[in-house]
Amino acid sequence: MSSLTDIHSHILPFMDDGADSVEMSIHMLEIMKEQGVERVVATPHFYPHKEKNVKSFLEKRQNSYEKLMSSDPPISDILLGAEVSVEKDISDLENINLLAIQNTDLFLFELQYKSFSDWMLEEIDNISTAYKLTSVIAHIHRYIPFYTKPDFEKVLQSDSVFQVNAEAFGNFRESHFVKKLIKNDFPLAFGSDSHNLSDRKPNWSLLKKKLNQSEIDKAMALFESHLK
Ligand SMILES: [Fe+2]
Repeated sequence: MSSLTDIHSHILPFMDDGADSVEMSIHMLEIMKEQGVERVVATPHFYPHKEKNVKSFLEKRQNSYEKLMSSDPPISDILLGAEVSVEKDISDLENINLLAIQNTDLFLFELQYKSFSDWMLEEIDNISTAYKLTSVIAHIHRYIPFYTKPDFEKVLQSDSVFQVNAEAFGNFRESHFVKKLIKNDFPLAFGSDSHNLSDRKPNWSLLKKKLNQSEIDKAMALFESHLK
């Protein structure tokens, strides 16, 4: 059994619509620890149109991380990353590569909750190619209401890792979709995408209940193969 890494979380305090205090961050990490998580990737939202620039976002993230670490969190293996919203021309943004997940070649992209357009994959491909990164598409099942079957085919044919939120297993349609990805051997990564202690709290127990250990282990091994 491999150790669990949560690849998508909003545990950093004061960054986005996730944890709004250090206490909340600590409590979220306590729940994750109880659920067997040993490593957490902190992925605060990065919306290019809202941020001044990448460097100022990284400073904000570093301050948040230091506040959390000075409170002795129950999980200390925290890698810094970001959930980068795919907007037009993001690949031209200075220092965009610095938003890759620390100590890995992985880069978490969030697609928009609207109809698919080819430019989205072009932006992702531009960044991955220019900086030799592997794209991770956040919560692939959340685009079901917006994408047609051919749209999904294009996204799934991209050279990416597909991230799945634990919550997918609480929804019939999403769970069916994810099971098909597992059956067809798509490269997957799992995360809680937890934001708080109420409606979006860490929920690894659900994922562990619905998947075989070998299916979980496979995704964890994939993540570890991208660690530097
Ligand atoms: Fe997220």
